[in-house]
Amino acid sequence: MSETTMSRPVGLNSVADLPKPPGLHWNVRAHQPVAYGVSMVRGLLDLDNPTLARACGGGQGTPFRCLLVIDATVDTLYRDRFADYFEHWQIEASWQVVQGDEEAKYLEQAVRVTEAMSRMGILRRAEKVVAVGGGVVLDIVGFAASMYRRGVPYVRVPTTLIGQIDAGIGVKTGINYGHHKNRLGSYFAPELALIDPEFLRTIDPRHAANGMAEIIKMALVKDAALFELLEATVGTITPETLAGCGSTVSEVLSRAISGMLDELEPNLWEQVLERSVDYGHTFSPSLELRADPPLLHGEAVAVDMAICLALAHLRGHLSQADTDRALRLLVGFGLPVSHPVFTEDLLVEALADAVKHRDGYQRVPLTRGIGSVVFANDLTPAELARALEFVGSWTAAAEGALVGAAK
Ligand SMILES: NC(=O)c1ccc[n+]([C@@H]2O[C@H](COP(=O)([O-])OP(=O)(O)OC[C@H]3O[C@@H](n4cnc5c(N)ncnc54)[C@H](O)[C@@H]3O)[C@@H](O)[C@H]2O)c1
Ligand SMILES: [Zn+2]
Repeated sequence: MSETTMSRPVGLNSVADLPKPPGLHWNVRAHQPVAYGVSMVRGLLDLDNPTLARACGGGQGTPFRCLLVIDATVDTLYRDRFADYFEHWQIEASWQVVQGDEEAKYLEQAVRVTEAMSRMGILRRAEKVVAVGGGVVLDIVGFAASMYRRGVPYVRVPTTLIGQIDAGIGVKTGINYGHHKNRLGSYFAPELALIDPEFLRTIDPRHAANGMAEIIKMALVKDAALFELLEATVGTITPETLAGCGSTVSEVLSRAISGMLDELEPNLWEQVLERSVDYGHTFSPSLELRADPPLLHGEAVAVDMAICLALAHLRGHLSQADTDRALRLLVGFGLPVSHPVFTEDLLVEALADAVKHRDGYQRVPLTRGIGSVVFANDLTPAELARALEFVGSWTAAAEGALVGAAK
């Protein structure tokens, strides 16, 4: 087996590494520091809470402007709250409503956001773009902000669970192109991400499960204590309990966020392509856009994770008992672990695409016990087929047990 737990940086790292052709030659090196904050703030839209106003660049008692780019559903649900808040803090917001949902994540939408910046005549540094919505809107607006005048400051207000623990807190932006997820995009940090779990009260329960998939991912790759916490909360996590953010939910969210940031911070630009946070993201990009009806991002990640659990088990990295626990956790949170589109051929094709993305190596993260990873570089089609078969048999047995229990 060709596996490694060490990360291998790619690319050139020092001036000494740069090629020096004969003749006149100049090397240019620069560093761009990145600093941004991620804050959990309850009551973000409460009139006496200045956090959002300050993040927009105001709150000093004088009128100021911002461009609010907001998910259409969030706009419908929270328009009055935003309008009252902006009026209270003397924020003159140009309002741009953007369709959320994966099908809307295409280039023209990002271009439309840049057109809104142009129409407003947004000042290049002093005035902010405020992105409010799920991962789709945050990715679109981040991409638009990175393109407009080669970068204008923006603030993220994630309103879905995936947004709050994943899409809203890193530096990646992007849109789908062709049949490829996030094929066009950039690394462009926001100034601030403001997380108010209260927004989660109105998400669809399916979207709560969708976000839980990414939290389960973090538990599997680096946080065994989070895994146990999740086992204890199966069945109790709903949009309402997420929004209420009691002590257990608060711990789940904060462990997920800090685990994610710990992984992202040393490797923001993905110089190292062995990324544990890519767990469940090897095969899922090909599945997500092909399933009909489409799967949500986290659902596709869950199906991918199930294959990776089987691969880890078949390689002797994960005991039968832990494999079973992990699969049961996914199912317990209402996530799929298999999908008819997921055939051996698709797995092989998806892996080939991942290899391009990962610079010629598979670098597939697999759990080595719960809470730790190892990277595989030599998965074979036969092994993928066996993993599919394993998940198929596990699912059939689990369904059989359910039918048996119902009799
Ligand atoms: N940039 C990154 O690092 C990163 C990381 C993870 C995921 N993502 C991307 O995020 C996207 C998935 O994000 P998502 O799951 O948030 O999907 P989404 O943005 O499509 O939102 C899901 C649905 O919820 C609605 N919605 C949003 N907030 C709501 C609220 N508070 N109440 C009611 N409805 C609300 C939206 O209108 C949409 O219909 C994918 O495109 C994925 O590629 C990006
Ligand atoms: Zn993801």
